Amino acid sequence: MKKFLNLLLIIGCLFLLGACGKGESKRIIRISHNQAQDHPTNIGLLAFEEFIESKLGDKYDVQVFPNELLGSQVNTVELTQTGAIDFAVASNAILESFDNIYQIFNLPYLFDSPEHYHAVMDNAELIEPIFTSTEKSGFEAVTWLDAGTRNFYTVKKPINTPDDLKGLKIRVQQSASNIRMMELFGGAATPMGFGEVYTALQQGVIDGAENNELAITSNKHGEVAKFYSYNMHQMVPDILIGNLKFLNGLSAEEREIFNEGFRLISKVQREAWTESVEKSKVQAQNEMNVQFIYPEVALFKEKVLPLHGEVLEATPKLKPIYDKIQEIGRQIKKGGNN
Ligand code: GCU
Repeated sequence: MKKFLNLLLIIGCLFLLGACGKGESKRIIRISHNQAQDHPTNIGLLAFEEFIESKLGDKYDVQVFPNELLGSQVNTVELTQTGAIDFAVASNAILESFDNIYQIFNLPYLFDSPEHYHAVMDNAELIEPIFTSTEKSGFEAVTWLDAGTRNFYTVKKPINTPDDLKGLKIRVQQSASNIRMMELFGGAATPMGFGEVYTALQQGVIDGAENNELAITSNKHGEVAKFYSYNMHQMVPDILIGNLKFLNGLSAEEREIFNEGFRLISKVQREAWTESVEKSKVQAQNEMNVQFIYPEVALFKEKVLPLHGEVLEATPKLKPIYDKIQEIGRQIKKGGNN
């Protein structure tokens, strides 16, 4: 009920915002995400705003809303579905509840390296059917954004082996795959929205969480959690989704410009990513006193690999995608292109 009232409130505010803009005839395009203004995702989206307005500025006014201003990712996917907003960045993790094809990228240790991850996500033939799978839900994916590698971080107890997770409450994203993954790791999964994690760490509601390095600095979790363990369990992309009716309402020329804009977001975001992560590590160590730990990854991997078989058995349509991902990985190892 609270969630529904929140949603009504946001829709009401958006209506008022729309009403205020009525003097001008421009169509406002609202894009929501949950990261801070210094985050590569915000930088990529601002490049999109500038690009679209430079090409189609007489018709469209692009507005980027960071920091969960329009709601959590789950809320804003719903708002994008109904068309109350036009675009939202959602972690792949939560999209599996809209189409279970998205389970594929939630599998732990699916990719061998960032190179493998990028090659798969850039493979149009493989990605296209996944990105259009949610058309029945009123939205589609238009591009992906790098969200690095997810690792455990904790407040009191450093994680050196999976045994250290026993009895710890670890925040996971709101996804059945992630809950099951934590179960296999041996910790107690505590699903919640990203915006609630800082306070939950601070108040001891959870003992730790798992995410990329920017959660430590850009989202300030390192003010509370002082141990970051490179167990490297997932590379879960962020996905920019758009309202289908809006996208289908664009003329062919406009759609081409938007597509160029979507490619630009991905390019700018990824260029900013590597540098941001490097800076983040230095900041976490020097200014926040966060300790980085390098445990034996194989110990973690063996705990959760059974999830691959479980998911493929329950959702057989994932098998050809999974096989293709493995094949791309083999080719990269051999030094060839896919
Ligand atoms: C990363 C990711 C976000 C996601 C967050 C989370 O920061 O980029 O899209 O919401 O993890 O753990 O919820």
